Amino acid sequence: MTEKITVSVIKADVGSVVGHSRPHPSMMEAAKEILAEGIKTGCLEDFYVTRVGDDINLLMSHYNGEGNCDVHELAWNAFMAATEIAKKMKLYAAGQDILCDAFSGNIKGAGPGAAEMTFEERGSEPMLFFMADKTEPSAYSLPLSRVFLDPFTTTGLVIDPRATKGFDMEIHDVVDSKKVTMSSPEETYSMLTLLGDTTRYAIKKVESRAGAGTAAVVSTDKLNLTAGKYVGKDDPVCICRCQNGLPAVGEYLQPYMNTMLVAGWMRGSHYGAFYPCAVEDSDPTYFDGPPRICCIGFQLNNGRFQGLEAYEAPAGDRKPIDFFAGEVWNEVRTNAVKASMMMRGHGPFMPAILGPDEMEYTSRPAVLDALKERCMRLD
Ligand code: 13P
Ligand code: 13P
Ligand code: MG
Ligand code: MG
Repeated sequence: MTEKITVSVIKADVGSVVGHSRPHPSMMEAAKEILAEGIKTGCLEDFYVTRVGDDINLLMSHYNGEGNCDVHELAWNAFMAATEIAKKMKLYAAGQDILCDAFSGNIKGAGPGAAEMTFEERGSEPMLFFMADKTEPSAYSLPLSRVFLDPFTTTGLVIDPRATKGFDMEIHDVVDSKKVTMSSPEETYSMLTLLGDTTRYAIKKVESRAGAGTAAVVSTDKLNLTAGKYVGKDDPVCICRCQNGLPAVGEYLQPYMNTMLVAGWMRGSHYGAFYPCAVEDSDPTYFDGPPRICCIGFQLNNGRFQGLEAYEAPAGDRKPIDFFAGEVWNEVRTNAVKASMMMRGHGPFMPAILGPDEMEYTSRPAVLDALKERCMRLD
């Protein structure tokens, strides 16, 4: 039996240049140096340091399984090195997602978010990495539902004999810390009943029912609840395996042609439209947004991320395909700006702002407290 490969994406916002815009290049460089040490020690097979908006995303491949202490510690050290630079440069929100003073075996609950999947590498292994800024894990629920539950999006659900067997979805209740696995196509409507409530439910993982392994996994760490107070939206990542019984690359991308409203831009307290763009274009531009969604792709080759770099290129020097860079997405971007402007026309009124339980900032308790004496019962 072949050894199973694990692909881990661990991400954190540890400070950025000019508000919540982008990490300084030297922070990314410091993270790269730390992960390169992991190649030397044999902990990692390969890695790629990237970002979306102000979030640093560490893509790593290894044979150590999920939740591995050494891999997580490496990521932690990379974020600590980047934090140090951010602090020295007095960048904004330096160390924002670092909630612990010291690493204690796993990144979970320590602030950074993680999506990890373990599988037997196939003869050809095309992978996509979605990365979002200024939003929350459940932002992937609508597009992933389209991909895995809707044959009008994924024709493969109808014409690929393995995909027709359906998918198991692990759904998390991020408020109550509960999970359940449900199966498509039989339970599709019940699954959508839960997933439609994006304030509470999110897709964690999708598995092929035809034995093709894990198809998709999302980072669902609810950072604001982990910390017990607001310290930043989760800005989630989603890893996807493609083709051969799993959705095709293009089927994963298709839902992003729709203009979708997601929660989390400006002070983590507003709804705005997903703006698909190149990594280089992922700095927030208007009202700290609109919420960016990027997608990069690699072929996995015996644990190495193969992009457009030379076969001999050293670990870290990867050149992924940047799927949302092209002009075919211009129309969606224009629509995203229009939809976001429409929401902004509501100012501080719902539905531009989130529901009261979801607001990351609120002055309501203080206002109500000050009004206590003047407040009267209705007749
Ligand atoms: P090719 O025939 O180009 O390999 O494409 C097959 C496919 O499934 C594309 O979605
Ligand atoms: P980040 O979560 O990307 O740090 O953004 C915080 C925010 O709400 C900016 O308006
Ligand atoms: Mg930030
Ligand atoms: Mg961010």
